Amino acid sequence: MTYFLKFRQFTARFKRLFKMEMIDIEVDPDRWKYKNIKEGCAIMRLKTDRVFYNPVQEFNRDMSIAVLAVFTKKYKQEQLEKAEKKAKGQIFEDREGDESLTHERAPKVEQAPVPITILEALSATGLRSIRYAQEVPNVTKIIANDISAQAVETIKDNIEYNYVGHLVEVSHDDACMLMYKHKHPSKRFTAIDLDPYGCPSIFLDSAVQSVADGGLLLVTATDMAVLAGNSPDTCHAKYGAISLRTKSCHEMALRILLQCIEQHANRYGRYIVPLLSMSVDFYIRVFVEVRSGAIHCKKSASKMSMVYHCVGCDTVTLQQLSAFKPNPSPSNPDQEKSYLPPAPPVGEFCTHCNQRHRLGGPIWSAPIHDEEFVDDVMKYVEKSNNVLGTARRIEGLLAVVREELPAPLYCTLDRLCGAVHLGSMPMLLVRSALLNGGYKVSYSHASRLSVKTDAPARFLWDIVRSWEKQNPVKPAKLEADPVAKYILSQEITSTVDLTMRPDANPESRKVGKLRFQFNPTPHWGPGCRAAINVGERKAKAIKNQNKKKGPFNKRHHSPWGSQTPSKKVAVSTLRIYVGSDDDTDSKPEEEIEEKQPDTVKENENQ
Ligand SMILES: C[S@@+](CC[C@H](N)C(=O)[O-])C[C@H]1O[C@@H](n2cnc3c(N)ncnc32)[C@H](O)[C@@H]1O
Ligand SMILES: [Zn+2]
Repeated sequence: MTYFLKFRQFTARFKRLFKMEMIDIEVDPDRWKYKNIKEGCAIMRLKTDRVFYNPVQEFNRDMSIAVLAVFTKKYKQEQLEKAEKKAKGQIFEDREGDESLTHERAPKVEQAPVPITILEALSATGLRSIRYAQEVPNVTKIIANDISAQAVETIKDNIEYNYVGHLVEVSHDDACMLMYKHKHPSKRFTAIDLDPYGCPSIFLDSAVQSVADGGLLLVTATDMAVLAGNSPDTCHAKYGAISLRTKSCHEMALRILLQCIEQHANRYGRYIVPLLSMSVDFYIRVFVEVRSGAIHCKKSASKMSMVYHCVGCDTVTLQQLSAFKPNPSPSNPDQEKSYLPPAPPVGEFCTHCNQRHRLGGPIWSAPIHDEEFVDDVMKYVEKSNNVLGTARRIEGLLAVVREELPAPLYCTLDRLCGAVHLGSMPMLLVRSALLNGGYKVSYSHASRLSVKTDAPARFLWDIVRSWEKQNPVKPAKLEADPVAKYILSQEITSTVDLTMRPDANPESRKVGKLRFQFNPTPHWGPGCRAAINVGERKAKAIKNQNKKKGPFNKRHHSPWGSQTPSKKVAVSTLRIYVGSDDDTDSKPEEEIEEKQPDTVKENENQ
């Protein structure tokens, strides 16, 4: 303990010295009464368990730091270039007619510093804001806001404890009210981080208005049961889209959230550019740039699609809401005009299995990542390996994201084979067959059994039928299942070549990246709402909380919680990972099914 105390005194002095300031550090004699948590460069002192803290979200915080580090650099550069252009334009305007003035000879423009402000609208302990202050370069101000008085006390205490008072300001307000107060362009934030309990949609209207032009929105959603198709009506009420329980439900969840942010932004003549979208553990997180432009808003409909989902074979077919076609004119040969594509894209019955469809969406069907940006984040993480605790996982996830095809949604290997009662085909064989057919194929970062391809669904079923010829299904199984029987009774109309090829194995897998992660801890999950934050109407519930004795009454997200599973935490086990990586390519289907924990879970066990 004494060593640690001395170390803290030393590092604090070192930090101050480095900034050429000398202060005396007074060591709080009560400090050992509290829980200290170390994450990144921050050491948090938590005096109460009535403020939300989830250690498993370290990955979320690390990734956000990497994204913000790259983003702020890019933003600063853009702002400086803009300012220089504007100032030079002004000089030329002021000295109009002065022939001695050329671009080369124009006087150097004095650059004002670029303000880079971040709002963490739902801050809880303040850990994220403190880490942003310590680890994200170029930041000039951070506001850590929370509606809970205890959270605000914790933030204040930890700002002081981590010596970041010069950068982090505390705010005790409702997140929406605070953001509405920053609607004016001169007051907008460069980045706004929304990390709520569950659904973020109530914060979006104010967020899209109070983020700067070209600024960044970082949004988490943890209500995966709603987004992944367990409650389509609730999803429609909250996000304005019907979710579907398909095998690609986690990517669909991302696309529903992006659609929702875009719709909110469009109301104010603004639109989004997704930089990185990730579905991990029990939540989704998107990083989107917000820009202004009426013409781009008009293009939004072409970035949205409805989803037809076959209830028999799980095939999904997209119906774009609007599209563009060439409309050249003599003055503008590249001109395009929008049109409404014919609908529906499917018949009454699915051509592959003869079953009916359900309709979901609308979803965002344009790209969900920006390749160049993801490359920059990868480079940043490689360089800062020693600071980010989850760097290896970030590198693995980004490597898969980088290989991911932009085509929306995917099918899964277990579903393809399971639909016709076949044991799982080796993943590399399916991938080889697609490449041999001249198509592209990739994984999705959202599922270790995913097959993302630009091939038509018919070709995929032809691969399954060809594999079945070599591994026939028992006739009795087919007699009992009209879907399987229908699929297998169809002719193979394409040339399917099942020869293995080396490029079917993606680079990220060859080099052994940590592509799909283990459960971070036992019984991990989004954690429960901090008791103090449930509102006055729930006062009775608060009063009765913790009265029931027993292991199920403890908070599991907090450092004090036991590891015994609670009811709340059980909800979070939407996805279970059972291996570090990867597809063993030939595990029997039964083995996969055995580990499938519930209906919304992804089979990623291979
Ligand atoms: C999931 S926690 C935030 C976790 C935090 N971002 C982190 O990384 O540790 C959500 C927080 O939002 C706060 N909150 C809930 N509703 C709010 C509102 N309307 N305005 C501001 N804060 C709110 C809660 O008090 C809680 O502390
Ligand atoms: Zn079908």
